[in-house]
Amino acid sequence: MQQRILGTSGGAQGLATSALGLGCMGMSGMYGPSDRSESVATLHAAVDAGMVLLDTGDFYGMGHNEMLIGEALADAGFTRAHQRDEVQISVKFGAQRDPAGNWIGFDARPSAVKTALSYTLQRLRVDHIDIYRPARLDPNVPIEDTVGAIADLVKAGYVRHIGLSEVGSDTLRRAAAVHPIVDLQIEYSLISRGIERDILPTCRDLGIGITAYGVLSRGLISGHWNKERESKGADFRAHSPRFQGGNLDHNLALVEELRRVAAEKGVSVAQIAIAWVLAQGQDIVPLIGARRRDRLAESLGALDVTLTPDDLAAIERAVPKDSAAGDRYNAHAMASLDSER
Ligand SMILES: NC(=O)c1ccc[n+]([C@@H]2O[C@H](COP(=O)([O-])OP(=O)(O)OC[C@H]3O[C@@H](n4cnc5c(N)ncnc54)[C@H](OP(=O)(O)O)[C@@H]3O)[C@@H](O)[C@H]2O)c1
Repeated sequence: MQQRILGTSGGAQGLATSALGLGCMGMSGMYGPSDRSESVATLHAAVDAGMVLLDTGDFYGMGHNEMLIGEALADAGFTRAHQRDEVQISVKFGAQRDPAGNWIGFDARPSAVKTALSYTLQRLRVDHIDIYRPARLDPNVPIEDTVGAIADLVKAGYVRHIGLSEVGSDTLRRAAAVHPIVDLQIEYSLISRGIERDILPTCRDLGIGITAYGVLSRGLISGHWNKERESKGADFRAHSPRFQGGNLDHNLALVEELRRVAAEKGVSVAQIAIAWVLAQGQDIVPLIGARRRDRLAESLGALDVTLTPDDLAAIERAVPKDSAAGDRYNAHAMASLDSER
């Protein structure tokens, strides 16, 4: 697979990784039930295709996602010392959840960072993590303290690189002054372009790569969503403003415009949406949230889509900047985003 380099912050060499990464969150309940054996097969197919960057969080299914990845990697031999470096594991920590799965806060104190990593290594069955990052900025802990604690883990050999997630420019600068930051994980898609204002230029200034999530806006702009598809219970989409009522009608109308452009190119809607993110810079690695092999295969097809300046202009006419209806998270979750301040 094509390679991209994440992060040259602080003169660091950066991390060579696959142009697309696999986001494993949907395999652990965030988008409703998923099939365990199909999830494992999807993980194996991704790594076989050269998609070596695997993204997870210790709170995805309260440890379920890490155990699933640990099992899949062990089955395929990747937890063995001589094969461990053939995959790269990116882990988020800090989100606090109760046994019912409710979100109850955030903890990125140095002692919490070190404890979380110890448990993560056990669940994943590995001796180090390639990129370790707080999922959100803990408002009660200076970012310098959180990054300093991860830097101790880098020195001790348990972590290779430090990343951040959904933080703004000020936090990026403060963090990068403590230790090189390899990447910022943040939502970026045709309908979520907020990072272009300030955060993306700051990352480029500091030499921090981007791992983009939500490139299909949680399936909304995949071409596979429709009014009849139900999301309920803990499915993120049941609570996402963009998937509700009039907002959904408006957003699906944008998808139909995009479908026209995709059809002219002879590709699918998901492929053109992923290819658009890939075309925004060599320092951006889209994370694909596939949990089935057919979705994975479709996403991999985006790597063969070359977008000309005319194509890019047609895409942006179909889905103009800031044309989505509804925020990307509900009000409570939006308030916890340092990146939206
Ligand atoms: N740092 C953060 O705050 C943060 C937040 C969210 C996610 N992430 C990470 O980013 C990863 C990707 O995010 P995301 O899941 O929101 O991404 P996404 O790719 O925008 O959405 C994934 C959903 O799109 C649907 N889909 C339809 N066609 C698809 C295709 N061809 N390929 C893949 N998915 C297709 C799937 O839903 P169905 O299976 O239901 O059809 C899938 O569950 C996550 O797994 C997680 O690791 C990070």
